[in-house]
Order: sequence, then structure tokens, then C-alpha cells
Amino acid sequence: MLVTVFLTVVVTILTILVSTSQTGYGIFVPPKMPGSRDVFPLVKVVNLTGASGPESIAFNPAGEGPYVGVADGRVLKWRGKSLGWTDFAYTSANRQMCVHPFAPELEHVCGRPLGLRFHKKTGDLYIADAYFGLLIVGPAGGLAKPLVTEAEGQPFRFTNDLDIDEHDDVIYFTDASSKFQRWEYFSSFLNVDKTGRFIKYDISSKKATVLLRDISFANGVALSKDRSFVLVDETTNCKVLRLWLSGPKAGIQDVFAVLPGYPDNIRRNLNGEFWVALNSLLYERRPYTKAVKLSASGEVLMVLEDKGKRLRYISDVEEKDGKLWIGSSVMPFVGVYDL
Ligand SMILES: *[C@@H]1O[C@H](CO)[C@@H](O)[C@H](O)[C@H]1NC(C)=O
Repeated sequence: MLVTVFLTVVVTILTILVSTSQTGYGIFVPPKMPGSRDVFPLVKVVNLTGASGPESIAFNPAGEGPYVGVADGRVLKWRGKSLGWTDFAYTSANRQMCVHPFAPELEHVCGRPLGLRFHKKTGDLYIADAYFGLLIVGPAGGLAKPLVTEAEGQPFRFTNDLDIDEHDDVIYFTDASSKFQRWEYFSSFLNVDKTGRFIKYDISSKKATVLLRDISFANGVALSKDRSFVLVDETTNCKVLRLWLSGPKAGIQDVFAVLPGYPDNIRRNLNGEFWVALNSLLYERRPYTKAVKLSASGEVLMVLEDKGKRLRYISDVEEKDGKLWIGSSVMPFVGVYDL
């Protein structure tokens, strides 16, 4: 009863907030998603052992993995059924207390690796850690080394995701908020916080440049296949923003897609299309989750969803060899779906 009353109040407040923000459409009239397929109940699971919340998923340049960043601050590597999960890297040297699979109150000590991307030429893993900025760890793993923790004199509060332009040796990454840390993400949402930034880090000069600011929760990042633009999720507004990097529109930012849910990470496949992990809109009142495939020009190509409760709060969808590897900020497993 109390829970119901509480939920009703929260949902009402959120409805007012969201409908008065710049979401672009009312919360009770969700845009239709033609061709949605309720297929995720068919997903297979790869259970984590003693860990949870595989937020981001990456394979190394040799195709090994996946590697996942989990809630206790480690990056784990999947070595197949017989060897299972092994420790690969961590972002905090101070790990004595980091023994609980899920302890948000210790995240600022243990770290919370979110975005993971391998540099294909060097084999280095770049990590966007929610608390420790942008870090790097070599192909053998171990303790990651911080590369940058502030831009324009403003420290990062909630580093979130990244992508690498290997041609220019540049990292594009997001700081979700300049005010709220990851454990306060719900406050950031309630306050319609708009202090997210999108930043470029030059590997050789070590210089960080702010490319976009005033973003309402800057989240997933993906470079286009031809490197002519880079995408940035603006989660609270249910949008994917596009920043043109070359060509006649270089330097111009526009909207690539408006989505029926809150976009988390965004990952490009080999064809140059993008998988976006979406969390529910609030009218659904439960963590009803979708994976949306967008074309290189932003059209919806495929929607996979879970009307059951198998997948919750999915955060990353990585396509590899005809399979989708699905991560989540809370689940104790990685989902695998055969396309
Ligand atoms: C994963 O864990 C769940 C819950 O403990 C268990 O029911 C399931 O059988 C496990 N699946 C696999 C493939 O190990």
C-alpha cells in the first residue's frame, strides 16, 4: 500500500517534470515502434560469478572476451565455459573494502568502470570510470592509469562512455553531469540536470577539449564508420545527438534520433549501424527494456524487447558474429541473443 502510494506520487511528479522538459512528446503517448519483437525471453545467460552489473561490454582486438565492467569496480574477462570469468583490470588501487558484488555506497572508493573500448592498434583498454575519469590499461590488464580527470578547470563528476578514433588517435567521451555522481543518477533525472559534457581527448598532446556542453545526461558515445560524425546520447531527453566532424556540416550538432525510452550505451556494428540500449519510459512503470538498431542515418531498423522480466535496465548491446551480447547496470549476468 505504502509502496503504491509512494510510486503514484513519484510517477506523478516525474510525469509533470518530464512533460515540461524538452522530451518532445507527452509521456502518455509513446511513439509507436512498428515491428517490435518480444524476443528477449529467448536470451541465453552467461552468469557472472560473485559480481553484478556488467554495464559495458567490449571484445579485445583478437576477438577475445567479452570484457565487462562490474559494480565492484573490476573489469572481468570471459574466457569461455571451462575457464569462466577472470579478473582483468581495476580502476582503484584501494580495494580492501571492494568485496561486495553490489555496494553503491562504496563506488567512490572502488570505482565504477562504465564505458570500455579497446584501441585496435595498441591493444590498450580505455575505461570511462564514473568516479575516476578517463583511464588506460595495457593488454595485460592490472591497475588502470588515469589520463584526464577535468576539462576547462571543471572536474568530471560522472564519466560515462567513450569511443576511439584510431585514425586521429582521439578519444571522444562523456561526463554525464557536472553536479551529480553516478549513485545520485535519479536526482540528476528529477532535477532535469543539464550539465553534461561531451569531450575530446587527444592521445599524443594529452589535451582535453569540451565539444558540447549543457547536455541532459550525456551518456553513450559512438563514432560513425566513416568517421564523419560522432553520436552522443542525451538520456533525459530520449535523444541521440549527432556532432558532425568533417564535411560541409563539420562542427554542427543536430538530432540523430528521438527514441521511445532512455538511451544508454550506443555501439556500432560492422555494417556501420548502431545498437542502442533503451530503458523504459515511465508510463510503463517497470523496467521494461528494448534494444533498437538504427541505420547510419538514424532510421529505426529493428526493435527487440522484453515484455517479461528477464532483462532489466539493459545498458549495452554489442553485436559480434551474429550474436548480441547484452549488458546491464544491475543484472548478475550477460545476455546473449542469436540474431
Ligand atoms: C544462472 O544463474 C541462475 C540463478 O542463480 C540459475 O538459475 C541458472 O541456471 C544459471 N544459468 C546458467 C546457464 O548457469
